Amino acid sequence: MTQLSETLRQKLRARTARTGVVGLGYVGLPLAVELAKAGFHATGIDLDARKVDAINEGRSYIPDVRTADVQSLHAAGRLDATTDFAVVRDLDTVNICVPTPLRKTKDPDMSYIVSAVEGIAKYLHPGMLIVLESTTYPGTTDEVVQPMLEAGGLKAGVDFYLAFSPERVDPGNPTFQTHNVPKVVGGFTPTCSDLAKELYGSAIETRFVRDLEQVPAWAMDGGGAEVPRTIQDATFVESRLHSLRTRNAAAYKGIYSLLLGNEARDWMEDKALDKVQYATLETDIHHIFPRKWCIANEIDEERRESIVNKTAITARTNRTIGGSAPSKYLAAIESKAQIPSTQVDGLLESHLIPASELRADDFSSFFVARRERLCELIENAMGKRVQRDVDEGHSTEGSEQFEIEVEDRDALLEI
Ligand SMILES: NC(=O)c1ccc[n+]([C@@H]2O[C@H](COP(=O)([O-])OP(=O)(O)OC[C@H]3O[C@@H](n4cnc5c(N)ncnc54)[C@H](O)[C@@H]3O)[C@@H](O)[C@H]2O)c1
Repeated sequence: MTQLSETLRQKLRARTARTGVVGLGYVGLPLAVELAKAGFHATGIDLDARKVDAINEGRSYIPDVRTADVQSLHAAGRLDATTDFAVVRDLDTVNICVPTPLRKTKDPDMSYIVSAVEGIAKYLHPGMLIVLESTTYPGTTDEVVQPMLEAGGLKAGVDFYLAFSPERVDPGNPTFQTHNVPKVVGGFTPTCSDLAKELYGSAIETRFVRDLEQVPAWAMDGGGAEVPRTIQDATFVESRLHSLRTRNAAAYKGIYSLLLGNEARDWMEDKALDKVQYATLETDIHHIFPRKWCIANEIDEERRESIVNKTAITARTNRTIGGSAPSKYLAAIESKAQIPSTQVDGLLESHLIPASELRADDFSSFFVARRERLCELIENAMGKRVQRDVDEGHSTEGSEQFEIEVEDRDALLEI
């Protein structure tokens, strides 16, 4: 790999590459959405202004693509569209997904590919990856696309990277969609193939196959084997904490384990919630600001049910909490358990709960402070920065897409 290709590879791995898709039809729009979901910034280019407007208004016009996805990705600033090819100047990759209808003579009409490549060629710059996805006859990439792109003086495989990856999507298929149809990639050079694989590997579930090879080997080798790509590539966004509300989610279990590993202790018995005490003290996940209190105080469901407002609480402590305001239940805990408030504050801190905000019954300040502490906990575990996307006004993860946790017995009793 040269410096140029290595730079692009790093950008693809870090999802900082700016991706583009030309042709926002049945093939192009789902691909742009998958790229944006994977964490890239994706720009669609289409000559049809109605499609461009729809994306920029947060609407889908393709049955396989949910409007909620287009809306949230657009609002998060990760998906947009334009009719103007000048945007190619700012892009690192472009996938060409324009139509290739058959003529009467049964050969494909190449005019759409030619016109799309003309548009790209004007703004082609060193280090870009161009992938042709349109269905076409063998040889199109080398005979049509390559010479048009090289006309400006840049060389394929040296100054820019070129690959063909025919689209195999089957619109309406409930099982196989853009995210899990395996891709076949043919690069102009081995480096071109590697970069195209890198692009799709980040967005399309070729990952499953890779995980099957890498994860068991790594787990069974006691940490000696190379860290699997799926772990190297993993990212976490702050707004995910808003949508994590049920113990069915793997990320929820992960954060919960980190909290217990952080030596979380019971608030009345002052005992570490280790393997033995967890069961003995009948520990379960409960609300910190009780559900009943939240409803009475009109706390929105998104924050009320988020993992930020939950922790491991033993049965006895939870009975004392009931549905009361934190200031009240903390006083009850202190008097029943005969523990001074400074010690209780320490026990709360072991759950990364900001004690003063809790004592003040200040849900909003509590939520912001604990969310930040959970982000730091996750950052320590992952060795990577958690992207703070909530204060920017838009969360990438909309909690409305996620199920509500089946309410536990005690929580129901609270109401
Ligand atoms: N739809 C499928 O089921 C399917 C499956 C496999 C492969 N393919 C292939 O994928 C390619 C795209 O198919 P599709 O179904 O998405 O087509 P489509 O007609 O749904 O969408 C193509 C889009 O490209 C846009 N376009 C045309 N010329 C353009 C240009 N010069 N610049 C920018 N945009 C332009 C059109 O406005 C349209 O929005 C075709 O080659 C097709 O054969 C399609």
